[in-house]
Amino acid sequence: MSHAPLAVPQNGTMEHHQEPGGSLFENGDCDLSRSLGRSRPTSIERNRSFDDRSFSELPSSDHYLDNSVFSPGRRSSSMGTPTSGFEPHPLMSEAWDALRRSIVSFRGQPVGTIAALDHSTEELNYDQVFVRDFVPSALAFLMNGEPEIVRNFLLKTLRLQSWEKKIDQFKLGEGVMPASFKVLHDPVRNFETLIADFGESAIGRVAPVDSGFWWIILLRAYTKSTGDTSLAELPECQRGIRLILTLCLSEGFDTFPTLLCADGCSMIDRRMGIYGYPIEIQALFFMALRCALLLLKQDEESRECIDQIIKRLHALSYHMRNYFWLDIKQLNDIYRYKTEEYSHTAVNKFNVMPDSLPDWVFDFMPSRGGYFIGNVSPARMDFRWFCLGNCVAILSCLATPEQSSAIMDLIESRWADLVGEMPLKICYPAMEGHEWRIVTGCDPKNTGWSYHNGGTWPVLLWLLTAASIKTGRPQIGRRAIEMAEGRLLKDGWPEYYDGKLGRFVGKQARKMQTWSVAGYLVARMMLEDPSQLGMIALEEDKQMLPQIKRSSSWIF
Ligand code: GLC
Repeated sequence: MSHAPLAVPQNGTMEHHQEPGGSLFENGDCDLSRSLGRSRPTSIERNRSFDDRSFSELPSSDHYLDNSVFSPGRRSSSMGTPTSGFEPHPLMSEAWDALRRSIVSFRGQPVGTIAALDHSTEELNYDQVFVRDFVPSALAFLMNGEPEIVRNFLLKTLRLQSWEKKIDQFKLGEGVMPASFKVLHDPVRNFETLIADFGESAIGRVAPVDSGFWWIILLRAYTKSTGDTSLAELPECQRGIRLILTLCLSEGFDTFPTLLCADGCSMIDRRMGIYGYPIEIQALFFMALRCALLLLKQDEESRECIDQIIKRLHALSYHMRNYFWLDIKQLNDIYRYKTEEYSHTAVNKFNVMPDSLPDWVFDFMPSRGGYFIGNVSPARMDFRWFCLGNCVAILSCLATPEQSSAIMDLIESRWADLVGEMPLKICYPAMEGHEWRIVTGCDPKNTGWSYHNGGTWPVLLWLLTAASIKTGRPQIGRRAIEMAEGRLLKDGWPEYYDGKLGRFVGKQARKMQTWSVAGYLVARMMLEDPSQLGMIALEEDKQMLPQIKRSSSWIF
């Protein structure tokens, strides 16, 4: 596979990777599309456009899921004639227009969506296609029977993965996927090239750990939704999956199965005290491992990787379900912990000091309900509630069925705190004063109840809705969607809202933020047709019982 030579200024930080001359993509992509053309099913079952959709109420949860990666979602067949006088919400067509305006093309093909179409504020890197931001866009297109842009995106980012990645003189792992990329147009030669950012331009210079996981999750969503297995089966894709996971599965000094991360390596991409073992990454890691297991072919090249995945899944779910889980009983146990215990019999394994329990957590914890806390490492538990990690834990079945219901119970009973007047808090609570100063490094963008620090992010609506459908409680998603519908368009689809109740458009929020638009669309479409959930949620794996044994039922 060819690598784009990089222009690295001597002793300096590389600004961008730039593809020279463009030949890399022309040649490589031809190969990929040729093999795709050869093996792709002649007709991909097309989803009807949203406007044809019928309304359906959700009777139960897992009814809509099946673990098979190869069967297209049931949406088309089950969505025959409208069963009620359902009319699409008027906001839907506005949202579709906005989403279509955000499409980015490369040499005539749609390859992604721009992060924000807001020209009124400084652009920074919001004019790029972010991998994580594209996920809700991709889901919306898949649900609408438009898989091409998703396939192109998956192939383009796979190409970017094969670039040599260096920051100053330090080389990043082969499997690292970019945080974002951008199409450059050379008006003289009338030629387009791509540039990508693997963290070397990002604020804080952190590589996006979540990008690779989202890529695998999206590849499974594409495969599930279209029934087209040929893309995932391409040797390049199989290799891409293995490379991503190689970064996480190698043995080393780790004593925990969770993944050790730097601050700012995920959706929260600046210093916010999430370094260590953040829940967002652990949940995405678990989901990506399960998706990879469905996607990897059982051949010689993948055998070792598959074995490693299975072992890790067992260890990871055990660790998370036991040590990250907090409910009133667990809180009471920690409150009474002894410290300085030594040996295998220790109850307080990580030597957490009960004094480190923050006051707010005693009020926040309902009698019924629970959640995965933000982080667990030696003598440190971050008790904050993070939305994305908890929702992905439900969707991936990292949470047991009881834990999943408990998370939804908590959301319902702490609605005023977590949703307030606009869905949905990225984390709770915010840090203020001294704590904000120490933990964020005095970040003026992350002041209390703004942006990543307890800010409200409409994009999270799709995750809440998916989790609510998965747990058989779609009314939770519906309530949040209806609340958002009153404001999103009027406020210009902001990136985030500020304040304890989310009443104010964020201080530095972009308008026309694409994932706010797409997040809403996906949430609405899933609510109208819950069978869509299958592309982004997994069923509980009966094999995830204590015994580590692989059988074909892992795959089918
Ligand atoms: C902000 C967000 C990040 C997102 C990016 C582009 O940096 O923190 O999660 O990917 O904007 O929208």
